[in-house]
This record gives sequence, C-alpha cells and structure tokens, in this order.
Amino acid sequence: MATTKQSLEQSLADDLIPPPTLYGEMPNPEVLLKDVIEAPEIANKMNIFPIEWNVQTPRLMEIYEASREPGWSPNELPWDSFDVDALTQDQRYAISYWWSLLSVFDASGPAVFARAMIHAYEKKEEDAIRKCFFSVTRDEMNHEEVCGRAIRMLTPGGPLQFEPTTPLGKLARNNIEWLYFNGARYWDGFKNAIEEYEIPILFSSFLFGEVASSTLFASMQETTDIPLFKEAFRHIARDEGRHLSICLAVLKNILPNLSQDDKDMITKQIRAGFIFLSGVLYEPPAEFWKLPPTFIASQRLLEESARSAGFGVLSHEQRKKNWRTAVLRMKQTLDPYGIKFPALPEIGIDGETVDFEIGKIIPIF
Ligand SMILES: [Fe+2]
Ligand SMILES: [Fe+2]
Repeated sequence: MATTKQSLEQSLADDLIPPPTLYGEMPNPEVLLKDVIEAPEIANKMNIFPIEWNVQTPRLMEIYEASREPGWSPNELPWDSFDVDALTQDQRYAISYWWSLLSVFDASGPAVFARAMIHAYEKKEEDAIRKCFFSVTRDEMNHEEVCGRAIRMLTPGGPLQFEPTTPLGKLARNNIEWLYFNGARYWDGFKNAIEEYEIPILFSSFLFGEVASSTLFASMQETTDIPLFKEAFRHIARDEGRHLSICLAVLKNILPNLSQDDKDMITKQIRAGFIFLSGVLYEPPAEFWKLPPTFIASQRLLEESARSAGFGVLSHEQRKKNWRTAVLRMKQTLDPYGIKFPALPEIGIDGETVDFEIGKIIPIF
C-alpha cells in the first residue's frame, strides 16, 4: 500500500506546472525605459486632470479639518417640539413663505457650490480650496434640507404643490412662483459667469454672500421665539461664519496683489451682489428682480403674520440697519486694498456710481 501511495506522490510531483505569475526572468526597468512613450499632453486647460494635492494656504486646511464634523444634522433638530396645529392657517403659510424665500438663496447652495467646486478642479486650484468648497456644499445641503423640512411641515406639498385656502395663502404661492422665476434667472447667470472669472473675483463675490448669510442667520436666531427654528438658525449661522472664514483666508493672499482691472471688476460685482442679496436681506430692487406689483405688499402681509406666530422676521427698518452694518463690514475688509466701493443709495452708502450688470451676479449664500 505504502509503495503505491509513494509512487503516486512521486508521479504528481514530476508533473507540477508552475503558475503563470512566476516568471523565469523579471523585466529589466532600464530596458523598459528605452521603450517608454510619453503620455499625450492634455490639451484642454479646463480639464480637471492632472490632479495634484498642493496646499498653499494651511489656514484653509485647518478650517476644512474643523468642518469635518459640522456638529449638527437637520434630521436631529427637535421637529416634534413644534406644534403646527397651534398656528392659524395664515401663520403656517407665512412661515412657510419665509423659508421658500430663503430657499432661493440657501437651497440653490448645494448646486451652486458643487459647480464652484468643479470649477476649482478645472482651474487646478490648491487642494485646500477644493476641499473647502466640498465642505460648503455639504453644509448647504443641510441648509437646503432645513428649508424643505420646514416648508413641507407647514404646507404639505409645498413650496408650490399645495392648494391655498385663504387669500394670504394664494398671495404666498404667487410670490413663491415669482421668486423661483427669478431664482432660475440667477442660476442661468451664475452658471455662465463662473467660468469667466478668476478665483480672486469669485471669492470677493462669495465673501459678500457669506457676509450676508452670516448676518441674516445671526439676527434670525436672536429674533425668533420658536425653539426649533432658533436652534436651526444657530447651527446655520455657525456654518455661514465658517464659510466667511474660508473666503477671508483666500482673500488675504489675493487682495494685496490685484490688478486695477480686477479691482474695478470687484466694484461692479459688489453692486451686482448687493442687488441680488437685497432680495432676502432687505427688499428686492427692480434692477434684477422682475416681480409683479402685488409682490412687496403681499410679502409685508406675510411677514406680519409670521411675526404674530413668534417667527422673528426683522422689520423693514431693522433689516435696512442690519444689511447696512453687513455691507459696511464688507467695505472695511476691502478698503485697505484700494478697491472702490460702489454707491448703494438704497441703504445710504456713498461710493462710486456703477451700473448694474446682470452677468456679474455670482454671489453665493
Ligand atoms: Fe447656507
Ligand atoms: Fe454660506
């Protein structure tokens, strides 16, 4: 028996075939190098390749690291603590309307910043800028979610697919339709404009948006008496403050080295940004905002109704003061670098008279 087993083993061992991954001879790198063909040049400069991981602004990387855990999540807000049934139908329409107005700015945020992030890849911006745009896109997705949850809780099917049962509700829905019509014009403008501008110009406009949003949410946090929304505003305001720090970190490097053309362009952008952002920070100027004659009066009625439910929409005068303070903060940042500030007579700020150009609207919230 033993002899048969041994001879079987022996005959198997004689027939062993090595697996094909064992080479008799490994290729010689020096020989291979002689046959190397260089990769073709990537002709399109706006291609996102080649990709590299350079960090020129360590401060940006610090902000990005701090943003990895935003410290809150829209689904964990105390939604159940808010008793919608305690409000009148008009108060529900009114608060839902405010969130719909905000959504023109904050709910376009994810798409707008995602586009800016792609642009940063195309422009071969440093890794830290790409990553910061990514974190802002994530934050904006959270803000967008809060808009959606608030609107749908107050007006199921909203912002548009609900049947208003009161005159104020009908005015609200009509206003929202007009707001989204203008939002669509903003997106068309933004999408085309972003490719045209260099990063310095973009960031000065982005700065304006972040100054506006951080101011708005900080004041809403103070004035609202509804705990759910107070908490939401507190988190959103902190996110917006971080976005503001990102803009300032980028601009700190860029502002001292601007050409005169860049500076003039920034002056125009500020005027354009002011007109656009006034839609939520103040009242929408006609240079950009195409709105029907009933719009402002309806909005005032809706704001009054939201206030009566403890939702702290600032009064016309408070809003003007608030917006003016925010704009002056922006002016203070840019003044030392010889960037002329545009005249903003709407809120009593003197400066250069510049025409509004729709193609210059690129601020983002
Ligand atoms: Fe936002
Ligand atoms: Fe923001």
